Amino acid sequence: MRAALDEVVARRVNAGAAVPAFTCYGAGTALAVVGAAESLRLPVILLVAPSSAAAGGGPRLISTLRHIADDARVPVCVQLDHAKDEALIRQGIEAGADAVLADGSHLSPEDNAAFVRRVRASADVVVEAELGSVPGAEDRAAVQETDLAGKTDPATVGAFLDASGAQLLACGVGNVHGRYRGTPRIDWPLLARIRQEAGAVPLVLHGASGIPAADLRAAAAAGVGKVNVNTELRTAMLAAAEENLGRCRAAGEDMLSLTGAVTAAAEAVVREVLTTLAGAAAVPT
Ligand code: 13P
Repeated sequence: MRAALDEVVARRVNAGAAVPAFTCYGAGTALAVVGAAESLRLPVILLVAPSSAAAGGGPRLISTLRHIADDARVPVCVQLDHAKDEALIRQGIEAGADAVLADGSHLSPEDNAAFVRRVRASADVVVEAELGSVPGAEDRAAVQETDLAGKTDPATVGAFLDASGAQLLACGVGNVHGRYRGTPRIDWPLLARIRQEAGAVPLVLHGASGIPAADLRAAAAAGVGKVNVNTELRTAMLAAAEENLGRCRAAGEDMLSLTGAVTAAAEAVVREVLTTLAGAAAVPT
């Protein structure tokens, strides 16, 4: 069912929980994500990577995800992730995205805020911003040093949020996209400081793949309202495809069985993350 992303996140934050968001490269992944969310009766967010949105079938992928989201028995939002380009954002919203990460993290804080402000003024969708930066690529799982993470300067948060009007804030607190070298080290004092500076604006933790469940729970308890996952889902789906390919080929090129195995692997990851983030008061919505 359709629901405003900021309201869904606010409700879960009040319950001491966070809402996970999963990158979907196709309808099959979205069906797995929504199926897992429905089985736990929890809300979820479908993310579209900017590379997918900009590809030939991008608008159709987004409109397909829109349909899957609207048809779901739980609140599901469709967000265009890490969009740096206003034309791509317009196209994504026209196709059915109801939220966007207007990613100006490569700009100065002033230009970043102006970019986010323009996106907010141009469309009636929920707008997330990123301040500081989360290193690593969105679609490729290269190993990143957690220490190199571009941490958010808490002193800039209040003015940035005032100037940008962002409704959610992605921040750098030691998190990276892709794989962590060694154990991820979240900067908890920094997260607490950013939480304080951000007031009522929910924080977003990108690069959740590889962060231990206890840390994800601690992040939700520390006021993170949305958690983005991509790599972990890709790893599980590719492993399931590899594991089942020979068997399905030998069984008369049984495509249904192969996609079933891949979907089951994705669902297992999504259920685990949803359960981890469901909070002490895991009240289904
Ligand atoms: P991971 O690939 O590290 O899970 O990061 C996903 C993400 O942050 C999407 O925006």
